[in-house]
Amino acid sequence: MKLQYQLNAAFAALIIAIMSITAFFIYSLLMDMLIQDEQRQLKGRAELLINVINEDGPDRNTQLSELIQDRNYPILLFDRSTGEVLFRTMPADIAYTWIDRYEDELMGQEVWESREEKFVVYDFAVNSGNDQVLVMATPLNDLQAVQSVFALRMLAVFVIGLLMAIIVSYVLTWRLVTPLTKLKRELKKIEKRQFSDVQEVEASGEIREVEQSVRQMAKELSRYIHSQKQFFQNASHELKTPLMSIQGYAEGIRDGVFEGEAREKGLNVMVSETERLKKIVNEMILLAKLDSNEDVYHPEDTDLSEIANQAKDLIYPLARDKEIALEMGNARPFRANVDPERVLQALINILSNAVRHAETKVSIETEEKENRFLVRVIDDGGGIPEELLPQLFERFIKGKGGETGLGLAIARAIIERSGGEISASNKKNGTGAVFEVQFFRRE
Ligand SMILES: Nc1ncnc2c1ncn2[C@@H]1O[C@H](COP(=O)(O)OP(=O)(O)OP(=O)(O)O)[C@@H](O)[C@H]1O
Ligand SMILES: [Mg+2]
Repeated sequence: MKLQYQLNAAFAALIIAIMSITAFFIYSLLMDMLIQDEQRQLKGRAELLINVINEDGPDRNTQLSELIQDRNYPILLFDRSTGEVLFRTMPADIAYTWIDRYEDELMGQEVWESREEKFVVYDFAVNSGNDQVLVMATPLNDLQAVQSVFALRMLAVFVIGLLMAIIVSYVLTWRLVTPLTKLKRELKKIEKRQFSDVQEVEASGEIREVEQSVRQMAKELSRYIHSQKQFFQNASHELKTPLMSIQGYAEGIRDGVFEGEAREKGLNVMVSETERLKKIVNEMILLAKLDSNEDVYHPEDTDLSEIANQAKDLIYPLARDKEIALEMGNARPFRANVDPERVLQALINILSNAVRHAETKVSIETEEKENRFLVRVIDDGGGIPEELLPQLFERFIKGKGGETGLGLAIARAIIERSGGEISASNKKNGTGAVFEVQFFRRE
């Protein structure tokens, strides 16, 4: 069943239950209230009757006969001790059955019945000896008629209330469910990978938050799928090039095309290309493992300034070969829970790029602030090509003169596993690239 119908049904059921309970209580209390009110009236009439009897005025008899002859208020006066009827305006059989049952059953009761008919009754002793009892009665039917009229009105009010409640509930649930239905449609598009068709859905509150997350998710998914596609294209290209060159030389040697020195050179190329293939495959495996939380990252309490110094020392011979000056200030100790080997590898990847692209020098700056340790690598080379910047850390992304394009992807994977951040930019004034790596000490 649709959510909207379910909500409406639940709402209507709740309203009906509350109304039924209320109606039941009101209906049952109503009869009691009517009987009490009627008794009050009977008492009033009785007092009036006694006043009229005791009065000595000219219109006493007319008042008396009016009171007595009112068909709606039958009267019975009897003697308790003898069981004799002294006066009555009701049928004799009713009068005698009441007198018979008075002592044992009826005395003090509010409702007396006789011959299927019920009466509300007010009885009291009229003389000092307490044996003459006056019974003022009124048929209960009249009250039941009042009760039925009231019940009908109550029913009408409840039906109107229920209808209004259902309309309100329908409008409210419609407002709640419509954005959900639209959101479902947008999710279907995501399911079919029609990311560019995903549209904004108007909503408020939590549904708005879900809607925003859904669109964010669509964007991320689209980016991810795109980068995966690019990754497979680039990876197959990267693997194909060395394989083709190995195949070419191998076939040439087999067919006797390469002989002597050429054969020697071919074999060397085959060995170095195989090395390269091995390096690429190993790096791809490492990246996959870093991504999938496999056991390749072993964090321990590490001094990051020491790792930065080690990275500088390791890259120093390469810099000297290329006549690039390597500058580094004094790094103050900063301890964090990271894998020292992997972090060293990440810094070397960044430093080797810097040395490769630098004109004359590479500087390493470190900064530590409270819970943050920053390593900045600056070179004075040509800088990173602008079109490369947005996807610089993706796999197999490389610029002119680049090698495999995995170095920075590995660096980012390691830094992120260490809970840190990496970013790259070009110098604002002058040429050269700036790489910033931040580590955080988590309490
Ligand atoms: N300091 C830098 N100055 C200018 N360009 C840079 C710098 N560092 C990286 N790049 C650009 O970013 C690209 C990607 O670098 P990355 O280290 O990922 O791959 P690579 O150096 O080409 O190959 P490898 O996987 O062997 O490191 C490089 O090819 C280069 O074009
Ligand atoms: Mg590199």
